[in-house]
Amino acid sequence: MTVENAEYSMQQYSNDNFLGYALNHGFGDLHFKVDPKTGMQAIIAIHNTNLGPALGGCRFIPYKSIDGAIFDAMRLARGMTYKSALMNLPLGGGKSVIIEPSGNYDRQAYLREFGKFIEELGGRYITALDSGTNLQDMDIIAQQTSYVASLSKYDGDPSPYTAKGILNGILAAVNFKLDKEHLDGLTIAVQGLGHVGWELCQYLYELNVKLVVADIDTKKCMLAQEKFNAQVVDVKEIHKVECDVFSPCALGGVIDDITVNELNTTIIAGAANNQLLHTYHGKTLYDKGILYAVDYVINSGGVIFAASKYLNTNEDKVIAQIDGIYKTLLEIFSRSEKEKLPTSDIANKIAEEKIALK
Ligand code: NAI
Repeated sequence: MTVENAEYSMQQYSNDNFLGYALNHGFGDLHFKVDPKTGMQAIIAIHNTNLGPALGGCRFIPYKSIDGAIFDAMRLARGMTYKSALMNLPLGGGKSVIIEPSGNYDRQAYLREFGKFIEELGGRYITALDSGTNLQDMDIIAQQTSYVASLSKYDGDPSPYTAKGILNGILAAVNFKLDKEHLDGLTIAVQGLGHVGWELCQYLYELNVKLVVADIDTKKCMLAQEKFNAQVVDVKEIHKVECDVFSPCALGGVIDDITVNELNTTIIAGAANNQLLHTYHGKTLYDKGILYAVDYVINSGGVIFAASKYLNTNEDKVIAQIDGIYKTLLEIFSRSEKEKLPTSDIANKIAEEKIALK
């Protein structure tokens, strides 16, 4: 979810009514820390721990407002509960935010204070990488607490695992929607050639997919043209491309009131978090007959990887869990068809059944 989405959604809860949001969305607890010495301001949102301690990344980015930061942490924490539950991980959902100041600050001191903050929660929250944090940051946090899932010693880039999960999800969607067991000759439009998008293009190219790509980084586009014979289009056009699968691998909120009517695809299946700007866009996609591979299910390879490091899961089990994304999505698609509900609603229902929120 982008900061902009968070701030937009916050408006629905008027002024600073994040406690209203918390009440309505099944939280959990919210923790705030300010350290007068360093100036560090951080938030840890724990949505649910029914299935285990709350695992979720730490964002270290600037925010336009404190409300926006709180709301960002909360929305993301809730998403983590659903993601872990759906993938049968023994974990709950949480997220944290360190607010990046505009002026000079001592980053290491911030991270150390943040580590102490996590430690004070006694294991109810486990942190990991997210926007604005890197493995070296995690190593500093880990000097103060053992509740850290991403560390440089784990060789911890989750992106290849996420990309493999996206591929499995695309295969499941193509099987369900187009009745095909392979991707040979299909056209797939990939938005974003970052860590996940690039790796995904590599897989798709090897499976004889016709690739159409866009990225704000023109160098990446040129390289994709050269390596994968990809057609490059403008970033404003990628979602409009006539294709079998549109794969958002860049930003959140790409499906909004405007773009939803400009799509020319039968399937949406990509890595980005919070692809739907609003929940009701899931229904719009359903009504249009576009199969939506729910973002937090298809991109769960990342959390599976992070959890495996913390829980000491062996590599074979991790691969099996990532292969399981195929089956989980097929189950969601089938139930969506049977119950005549959007896939996004079905995924939420299954997760809620698992965490017994209802
Ligand atoms: P990244 O930061 O490596 O790549 C994002 C790419 O999108 C960059 O190449 C960037 O230039 C491009 N981009 C930015 N704005 C764009 C626009 N308007 N149009 C087209 N391209 C644009 O990020 P990464 O790791 O590849 O993740 C991609 C998405 O997947 C993010 O939304 C992330 O939250 C989500 N995700 C990533 C996971 C992972 O394991 N890396 C796990 C789960 C979700």
